[in-house]
Amino acid sequence: MADSFDVLGDYWHAVATSASLESGVFSVRLMQKDYVLWRSSDAQIVAALDSCTHRQAPLSKGTLENGCLRCPYHGWLFGNEGHCLEVPSASEGLPIPPKANLSPFFVEEKYGLIWMCPGKPRTSIPEVAADSDESFTRINTDMQIWNVDSTRMIDNMLDISHFPYTHRGTFGIEQETVVPKIKLEQLDDNYYGYGYEVKINNVGSTKIMSGGGSDVIKLFMTTGFTLPFSVLSTMSYETGVEQKLFMTAAPIEEGRSIYIFVLWRNDDVETLVEPGRTIANEVLELELAVVLEDQMMLEKLQGQLPLERGELVDVQSDKPSLEWRRRYKELVSS
Ligand code: FES
Ligand SMILES: [Fe+2]
Repeated sequence: MADSFDVLGDYWHAVATSASLESGVFSVRLMQKDYVLWRSSDAQIVAALDSCTHRQAPLSKGTLENGCLRCPYHGWLFGNEGHCLEVPSASEGLPIPPKANLSPFFVEEKYGLIWMCPGKPRTSIPEVAADSDESFTRINTDMQIWNVDSTRMIDNMLDISHFPYTHRGTFGIEQETVVPKIKLEQLDDNYYGYGYEVKINNVGSTKIMSGGGSDVIKLFMTTGFTLPFSVLSTMSYETGVEQKLFMTAAPIEEGRSIYIFVLWRNDDVETLVEPGRTIANEVLELELAVVLEDQMMLEKLQGQLPLERGELVDVQSDKPSLEWRRRYKELVSS
């Protein structure tokens, strides 16, 4: 596990949402290490170990003063790029030791998410083309913490055979259990996966999400992954409505992960479906209910997903997961 974290450290992980930094200092645990994040006075985000260079006090318990972070223990002050600006106990004019500066990590903001790379990024942040397409509106959601290993989350995101069972409370149709033959392909420059048609229950919120139609409809979907833990799913309805669902997991430690999803839609999400309730509200509520069904199921599973071939029984519908496991194993052993 620790070895895989060494390699995964060189990839980008979504560790927070832009909204989570609005209220001040933010702490996050990623791959068994604690980090502090805050927006400094130059509007850039600083990400550093949550440990003061002086006596290792948790900086996330400190206070923000005009974009500078003051340590709660002896009041050292850290500013842009983690520079130490003040050591209150030192007489005026004494130089601040250079080692007092925090060592900042790679951090970027994209899709309303804060991405961090604790090592040296080997790849770029997963691309979602819809974000720069004007016909799409982005809908952000809060970051969630799941007691599930990230490997199990990806396996679930790539799997459609659980729809009729795990999602019977939302869109899943119990009769529709057979998964047609899956053909894996490069979906675009970034995602590897498959396209497929599913039959879904199209009532209530789902009907608002699909833009109308009968009570059971066919829906064309594509689902693809990009290593290590991101999946983009697109849903194209007969009505012309399209939705992109981007899901990403980040390991906190074995068996515990950050989960964030982001939606993009090409309809007018501010349209009211009833007084005070927009399409965006409706879709979000439904997606949150769907995601909760996955979480409830996955939290019953222990530890990492076995990665060795033959350790699990795989059937045709597990092809995408099998391919992700093959590539992931290659990545973490590289
Ligand atoms: S531990 Fe932070 S100022 Fe002393
Ligand atoms: Fe699911």
